[in-house]
Amino acid sequence: MTLSVRPLVIDDLLAVLKIERESFSAPWSLAMLIHEIAVEGVIALALEDEGAIIGYAFCSPHADDWHLVSIAVDPSRRRSGGARLMLLEILNRLGDESRITLEVRPSNVAAIGLYEQHGFLFAGARPAYYPDSGEDALIMWRTPATLSGRLDDVPNAEPQRK
Ligand SMILES: CC(C)(COP(=O)(O)OP(=O)(O)OC[C@H]1O[C@@H](n2cnc3c(N)ncnc32)[C@H](O)[C@@H]1OP(=O)(O)O)[C@@H](O)C(=O)NCCC(=O)NCCS
Repeated sequence: MTLSVRPLVIDDLLAVLKIERESFSAPWSLAMLIHEIAVEGVIALALEDEGAIIGYAFCSPHADDWHLVSIAVDPSRRRSGGARLMLLEILNRLGDESRITLEVRPSNVAAIGLYEQHGFLFAGARPAYYPDSGEDALIMWRTPATLSGRLDDVPNAEPQRK
């Protein structure tokens, strides 16, 4: 197995759609993926193993911040460091001065473990965010402050995880 990361292009989206459907209970449609890859300035990455796409990630600019919109790995190829490779590519491109946020389900132990390993801290919740389950979303941020264990540069931070 030789994992590598490269820019995602529109021709990759059918492979992405397959992984998306296997990874999320409310997957994005092809139209939503086409919209996301066209966002100006988006970092869209493909994770490859010897030419086959086994994962992807989207990180979009929003005003002064970045939003890690999606990251997923083929279920049969998880726990091999693929998501870490994509996240590190994003973090290397953005640098430690950038502020990056994301939403995650409280039940998503795998994703939370990944984010916590890379400097993201809990900073609040969005009640009943996920329409399929009614679950709240946990909001996480990675900023210059969170890298020192603080939240003072995070907007509207509520540090306690519910
Ligand atoms: C979350 C996800 C992207 C992780 O992908 P992955 O390639 O398996 O992750 P990696 O192998 O790079 O693991 C990196 C770290 O993530 C955490 N992690 C990954 N899978 C985990 C699991 N099943 N349980 C606990 N921690 C886990 C660990 O901290 C791991 O580091 P370690 O191996 O040193 O313990 C993958 O599980 C996935 O695609 N899930 C479905 C989609 C999803 O939920 N995306 C996130 C939406 S917010």
